[in-house]
Amino acid sequence: MPDRLKITDERTGLQYEAPIKDETIRAIDLRQIKTGEKDFGLLSYDPAFLNTASCRSAITYIDGDAGILRYRGFAIDELAERCSFLEVAWLLLNGELPTEQELTVWQSQVKRHTMLHETTKKFLEGFRYDAHPMGMLISTVAALSTVYPEARNIFDAKNRHLQIARLVAKMPTICAYCYRHHFGLPYIYPDNELSFTGNFMNMMWKMFEPKYVANPILERALDVLFILHADHEQNCSTNIMRGVGSAQTDPYLCVAAAASALAGALHGGANEEVLRMLEEIGTKDRIPSYIEAVKSGKYKLMGFGHRVYKNYDPRARIIKRTADQVFTVTGENHKIEIARELERIALEDDYFVQRKLYPNVDFYSGIIYEAMGFRPDLFTVLFAIPRVVGWLAQWEEMLLDPEQKIARPRQVYTGYGLRDIVPMHRRGKDADSPGQRDPQVAV
Ligand code: CMC
Repeated sequence: MPDRLKITDERTGLQYEAPIKDETIRAIDLRQIKTGEKDFGLLSYDPAFLNTASCRSAITYIDGDAGILRYRGFAIDELAERCSFLEVAWLLLNGELPTEQELTVWQSQVKRHTMLHETTKKFLEGFRYDAHPMGMLISTVAALSTVYPEARNIFDAKNRHLQIARLVAKMPTICAYCYRHHFGLPYIYPDNELSFTGNFMNMMWKMFEPKYVANPILERALDVLFILHADHEQNCSTNIMRGVGSAQTDPYLCVAAAASALAGALHGGANEEVLRMLEEIGTKDRIPSYIEAVKSGKYKLMGFGHRVYKNYDPRARIIKRTADQVFTVTGENHKIEIARELERIALEDDYFVQRKLYPNVDFYSGIIYEAMGFRPDLFTVLFAIPRVVGWLAQWEEMLLDPEQKIARPRQVYTGYGLRDIVPMHRRGKDADSPGQRDPQVAV
């Protein structure tokens, strides 16, 4: 079977060919389709990138119809079952699972960089006590670009890897400091005898005890949640990471931009919204009327639906299991009952079935976080801590891809043609039509 697409332009009767590779044609091959010499050539129009691959990537594989998620070829459930978060972080960043020695070196490298420069601590102190932690995180990560100006040498591999270790290591510290700032609690310095996740819990919750010891079930549950959130191919924030990175911006500023995308309610902000929704529903008997309100377009069912998964999000299944383990320690959070019932009713309802809307990663994660003692406004920060690994892996892949250039989409211009400026004293006074020419494509 020839792997090329034949296109007939009915405007001119001319025929064109575009090679098909990996079930994809190159949009640039459409440019040859012209009506005349002065024609710029055909563009493809794809708002919100519904059908556009922007890169070739070997990091994460998703089959949305089958509900499959793999990092570097490994099934997400196996990674969540058998690996630690730092092991998975190494895998995403380097392509292979670490050897014992590589893991030891990587762990100690991350530990070496957990501290924040004291001036960064002061920077954090400048926020109001009630500042949203995502705003604090985004600004602080951006500020790190001033602390490490050498980070802009992005084509120096050694330098790049140093900044990657710094970013992975400092995200939990920033998150914990944001939390303690809100309550006026003293900041807790990292304890490098603890695991990545154990140390994060230590910086969050240590009070008077000489040494913080995390509950091992909760520590493992958080590690699993970090694994599940570490990457998700070309999602909104990763696309921003690659887009900003394509301008050769330093990784701190790129991560700040990606985290800004993550903060949105339709992306990482959804887990916080799920909790607010469950609070608003309040009791099980109010679920049917809430579902009706969703179906009439009044609300969205937060934590449901996904651009890629048209089947159960495999991460949601693992999170549901993790929730049961967490509740053996914390006791059941009453919201889980509302969530389970909401899921049951939604999955039987034609509206959700027809649109293939299933629970996504955010549906149950917030309930676990709340049971563990995290405030809802920290949930998206908890998403950003592991996702920084995916962003950085994708950023480095983009930088080293010889096909990539500065990201710069085209547009279909729909505004006025050339117009004359109406003098100030006549503006808005008469029916002076500036005259409009046909909309044109600006190139
Ligand atoms: N509740 C009710 N209706 C929904 C929902 C929802 N959560 N999600 C999609 N729909 C409907 C939507 O109204 C549309 O209906 P119709 O065909 O009648 O117009 C249809 O389903 C298709 O939806 P869409 O908006 O075209 O889908 P999308 O791929 O553009 O959006 C989404 C994906 C995740 C933004 C969306 O499903 C949504 O807003 N979900 C709620 C927010 C959420 O949970 N976000 C977390 C996503 S997973 C983690 C992450 O990415 O951070």
